[in-house]
Amino acid sequence: MFLWGTATASYQIEGGVTEGGRGVSIWDTFTREPGRVRDGRTGDVACDHYHRWPEDVALMADLGVNSYRLSIAWPRIQPEGRGPANQAGLDFYDRLTDALHERGILPAATLFHWDLPQALEDEGGWLNRDTPHRFAEYAALVADRLADRIPMWITLNEPFVHMVYGHALGAHAPGRALLLDALPVAHHQLLGHGLAVRALRERGAERVLITNNCTPVWPASDDPADLAAADAYDTLHNRLFNDPVLLGSYPDLSAYGVTLDCVRDGDLDLISAPLDGLGVNYYNPTRIAAPTTEGLPFTDTGVTGHPTTGFGWPVVPDGLRELLVGLRSRYGDALPPVYVTENGCSQPDLPGPDGVVDDQARIAYLEGHIDALEQARAEGVDVRGYYVWSLLDNFEWAEGFTQRFGLVHVDFATGKRTPKASYHWFRDRIATGGDRSDDANSPH
Ligand code: GAL
Repeated sequence: MFLWGTATASYQIEGGVTEGGRGVSIWDTFTREPGRVRDGRTGDVACDHYHRWPEDVALMADLGVNSYRLSIAWPRIQPEGRGPANQAGLDFYDRLTDALHERGILPAATLFHWDLPQALEDEGGWLNRDTPHRFAEYAALVADRLADRIPMWITLNEPFVHMVYGHALGAHAPGRALLLDALPVAHHQLLGHGLAVRALRERGAERVLITNNCTPVWPASDDPADLAAADAYDTLHNRLFNDPVLLGSYPDLSAYGVTLDCVRDGDLDLISAPLDGLGVNYYNPTRIAAPTTEGLPFTDTGVTGHPTTGFGWPVVPDGLRELLVGLRSRYGDALPPVYVTENGCSQPDLPGPDGVVDDQARIAYLEGHIDALEQARAEGVDVRGYYVWSLLDNFEWAEGFTQRFGLVHVDFATGKRTPKASYHWFRDRIATGGDRSDDANSPH
């Protein structure tokens, strides 16, 4: 069965940050620091999904998706990042899981979508080699309760973005600006992934994935300096996270004057344990030129000549085809089935006087990207799922509530949900072209 779904993340939608025994996450801390978030707001309430989840499940059932990618908030399960499970936290996801099954929606749960318990950050967070072990302990607690009913698990969401935005540039929590000294965060997250895979397998988890943020890298010119910079960027963005998982080795980083000396014997065996799929998040390609900033081996020049989203990101649907086909040619048979676990765009959508949110630009975006995905399948890439980011307008990290990515509009003052035109469009697309239940690739 091909999976058509929507994706969300705990801190971006749940709110209820002090309820059910939830502990403090690094995003609670970060959003309270002046100047960190564009509109100065926090995820304290967000979409109030913690209370309104039955309505959100009903919205998905009406949409006709057969899967929902949610994330579990680690601080709800282990408020201090260690120790026994907080039952009220597990109960919340338990009820949600059952409600999804009742509506025929397969839950796909991400274990880490960036909301680390603050108590672990206080001990060094992902710079500390103990955190991967804490992550595996948390994964085990969740799987003990839910592995019998959650058929698809994603260990980490976009470890590249968490390393770069959270630890190299300081734009996301925990707000560290270490540039290339942030590299241990890559290895420790991947080690956490490997240890969590083992914990999940031991508890009978059916399908286990990691989700990486991937981008096709376009050199700014044929000049050897631009080509070398593009290669460096491709290495740091794509290969650093895909190679160890799929090939069991890190790409050579010595040309950039850095080494991963935190890697120990046996780590890569854990990290490269076989997976049932690779989650890929795609938003846009990247254009790279020779370095102009000291300390970085490349310059991101931005892609021009394409329409842009509300965020200013270039809209390049064929980039998704290029990415998927490129993964297949780079990794060959080492590439497991691919799930596009996020794709979507922000647009400044507001209801018109008639209450309708007519987001034609999002429809064009989704249509182009789903067509590109179909094209990649026709070219032989085994793609088994597509999740729109996002079900709801939500808390967009450092952008606060200024970027709306949802198929469903949310009035953040009242919590009122209004399906947009794209919601109706996606429902029709799934209903007419989307049923792949006869798919020969179906794993089940
Ligand atoms: C991804 C992230 C999501 C969402 C999306 C849109 O990088 O996983 O949480 O924010 O980008 O920017």
